[in-house]
Amino acid sequence: MKRTVLVSGGAGYIGSHVSVELSQAGYDVIIADDMSNCDDTNYKGVCRITGKEIPFYRMDFCDMDAVSRLFASEKIDAVIHFAAFKAVGESVAEPLKYYRNNLCSFMNILQASRDAGGCNVLFSSSATVYGQASRLPVTEESPRLPATSPYGNTKQICEDMLRDSVAAYKGIKGISLRYFNPIGAHPSALIGELPRGVPNNLVPYITQTAIGKREVLSIFGNDYPTPDGTCLRDYIDIVDLAKAHVCTVSRMLGSGMEDDYEIFNIGTGRPVSVLELVKGFERVNGLKLNYRFAPRRPGDVTAIWADPSKAERAMGWKAERSLDETLASAWAWEKHLAANK
Ligand code: UD1
Repeated sequence: MKRTVLVSGGAGYIGSHVSVELSQAGYDVIIADDMSNCDDTNYKGVCRITGKEIPFYRMDFCDMDAVSRLFASEKIDAVIHFAAFKAVGESVAEPLKYYRNNLCSFMNILQASRDAGGCNVLFSSSATVYGQASRLPVTEESPRLPATSPYGNTKQICEDMLRDSVAAYKGIKGISLRYFNPIGAHPSALIGELPRGVPNNLVPYITQTAIGKREVLSIFGNDYPTPDGTCLRDYIDIVDLAKAHVCTVSRMLGSGMEDDYEIFNIGTGRPVSVLELVKGFERVNGLKLNYRFAPRRPGDVTAIWADPSKAERAMGWKAERSLDETLASAWAWEKHLAANK
């Protein structure tokens, strides 16, 4: 039986990769996006990679009437919610923008799921909910620490909204995936990360520096208590991460869930320092990056990496692509963008 998955924010970086993997795994995918933070590059790329005209709704999930209409017109078996703002610094400057958008959109999805008599809901959460954990790696049982930004707080609140909705409303099942640091691009180089303006995240900043769009990469802090003084993160390949969603949807649609609400870490389990990542990028792609050490960035945690073993035990998912392949794919994507300007 064909199953339909609605992907909110499916024209964005993670949503587009997830849409490709779901479609290739045999699901009918519907993409809905308000295009407020992207153009149609990734949507077109998804159609090209899959060879399908993926149904597309341009809509804002904060508009409850539009969400209700969508749920009334399509038979949706599962919904994956990506449509959210994600810039940590901007969320500190404009908290209400973040609370309004990130919370209202998810509330409307949960309301529509309830009105439809139930649905399987996958929420895209983040390792940010762990803050600076006192014990590493973090498991799903590690405590959530008070959020250090409104962005991080919206992730915690949305997790709670999903947990409470599952407990209260019959027919709603939910899974939150806590992503570590997603990086890289699809091997076709037809979809990837497309930051607007100056990138906040490390890998787009690296690729834009390598291509000459940015003059110099600042490495924020080299005096952390880590082996080389730079922060440690768990960089997870975007295609591996996308495949975790296929496993998760299949788990929700099957009968294997242990609880109607579950949480999984999606990471590699391997800590990598900022300097190691920069040097790895240079080595794999045979180039030199212009970088300098700069002061620490406020709000950064020293080190965070996942224990991803629960996802492997429960769903048979684990990260497979090597960091070298991922860093090569990030560079191939940046070059593809430059060639197709
Ligand atoms: C942040 C968020 C995370 C979110 C992710 C994607 C927090 C604490 N983290 O992760 O929730 O899911 O963005 O939006 O809220 N770095 C540099 N130079 C740069 C950019 C980054 O040295 O120009 C360093 C940072 O200091 C950090 C590492 O690279 O140590 C990774 O940074 P980044 O890619 O921004 O991700 P996080 O801050 O880990």
